[in-house]
Amino acid sequence: MSAPNNSYDPVRVAALAPDEVDRMTAEALAAIAAAADFDELKQARLAHQGGRAPITLASAEIGALPPEARAEAGRRISAAKRAIAEALTARQADLEAERDRRVLIDEVADVTLPWNRYPAGARHPVTTLAERISDVFIGMGYEIAEGPEVEAEWYDFDALNFPPDHPAREMQDSFWIGRPDGAGRSGLVLRTHTSPVQVRSMLTRPLPLYVVSPGKCFRTDELDATHSPVFHQIEGLAVDEGLTMADLRGAISTFVAAMFGEGLRTRLRPDFFPFTEPSADVSMECHVCRGASTEPGAPPCRVCRSQGWIEIGGCGMVNPRVLIACGIDPDRYSGFAFGMGIERTLMIRHGVTDIRDTLEGDVRFTAAFGVEA
Ligand code: DAH
Repeated sequence: MSAPNNSYDPVRVAALAPDEVDRMTAEALAAIAAAADFDELKQARLAHQGGRAPITLASAEIGALPPEARAEAGRRISAAKRAIAEALTARQADLEAERDRRVLIDEVADVTLPWNRYPAGARHPVTTLAERISDVFIGMGYEIAEGPEVEAEWYDFDALNFPPDHPAREMQDSFWIGRPDGAGRSGLVLRTHTSPVQVRSMLTRPLPLYVVSPGKCFRTDELDATHSPVFHQIEGLAVDEGLTMADLRGAISTFVAAMFGEGLRTRLRPDFFPFTEPSADVSMECHVCRGASTEPGAPPCRVCRSQGWIEIGGCGMVNPRVLIACGIDPDRYSGFAFGMGIERTLMIRHGVTDIRDTLEGDVRFTAAFGVEA
């Protein structure tokens, strides 16, 4: 800072001369206008507005002027500083506007492009079909009953009237569970059907009793187009006073109508199961050709192999021996039962020809069934 006046030095204060201030201002404005980006503008600001800028240094010399000249020099310097500050602000605004314009072009996003390339997962068609079948029976007043997949032999066989050495036990090739010490069978088996849930229900639920039991079953079958060692069944059981085969037939017809369409006939033919007496196999009229393929000269039907009928499960009146094993008086109560394969129902309903498609988990198969939650 210069000392106040009387030693006024015209050389030192030349920086305050109008021409010189104009020159510094013009130089500053030119540098600001030439700043092509924020960095260059920052340099221009330091050079022309900072503590070491010519105009700042010049303003420090005002005190060196004779008193009568200071006001005018002060105005000149102020006007120059204002012009520089305004130019800086304007250039800053220009650069920001330019940047914003460029961002819109360079970083353009097509908001119409689909971004979600991960399809939502969905439950397996076997699961959703099991629930649909259950719902049909829930609509008739049935409840859902469940049992374990690792089952006691007693529930899977004995209580269902398969005696220990009865050949009927061999009807179902079982995965026996060994004892941990390797010394023979443990008395447990991977359940070969859902029928043991009948026994569990009769032992634990009050009468009358109406239950359906969907679930996984296991048999030592080789995997091929129509067999799988793991599959699903749905079991039905009703125990009440005065039930007859007509009630059984009604339940089955309601199921067939709900799953395959109204007006399809059902057919029961004598069969054998140890836990039902009498027993029957259940068929329904082919929902595709409705029997037409059996007419002479008619085109063949792939679905029923031109038989007109499709077998869908087994059924019967609960064997009194099973009722007794479960502590139910067969003179007062009677019951009916039925069992169906869920994969088989799915295959018939949707024209699936290979059961392996239902368990391989290939989404190209399952996606065709939609994304029912
Ligand atoms: N449990 C039988 C099976 O796995 C199916 C079956 C037949 C279930 C007749 C029943 C029935 O409830 O009454 O082959």
